[in-house]
Amino acid sequence: MSERTLVLLKPDAVRRGLIGEIIGRIERKAGWTLSALELRSLDQATLEQHYGEHQGKPFYEPLVAFMSSGPVVALVVEGERVIEGVRALAGPTDPIAAAPGSIRGDFGVIVRENLIHASDSAESAERELKIFFPGLV
Ligand code: PPS
Repeated sequence: MSERTLVLLKPDAVRRGLIGEIIGRIERKAGWTLSALELRSLDQATLEQHYGEHQGKPFYEPLVAFMSSGPVVALVVEGERVIEGVRALAGPTDPIAAAPGSIRGDFGVIVRENLIHASDSAESAERELKIFFPGLV
């Protein structure tokens, strides 16, 4: 069954010129397609909505500051098992714990600058897609 997920290439990925590399890995998965893609700067309201569940956690303020430190690439990826699949491509939150071959394992070192966000469930994907691409049908 085809699914959709929200992916954000974080400001560190954009600054380091890794957009093509990361999108290439996603595009090469059989049957996955990009159905929206946009370079944009995120305002506080969008970030508060997106990361609202983490408000009050010690990493919340630095995370929001980092996510507004430069443009991100927001994309919608569509295909079989894409929600679980993009998170597997990304690797775990802490890049040092991420296996070589994963995006974070290959390119990341510190937790905050972990290159990519991907929705963690069907419910999150639905909620996040509405925030970033409200016009999507
Ligand atoms: S939790 O508490 O288990 O739900 O948190 P987690 O899913 O690991 O992470 C939620 C998002 O916060 C980011 N994160 C951090 N950012 C900065 N510094 C630290 N220490 C940190 N720890 C977690 C993490 O990357 C998640 O953001 P996204 O955009 O989903 O990757």
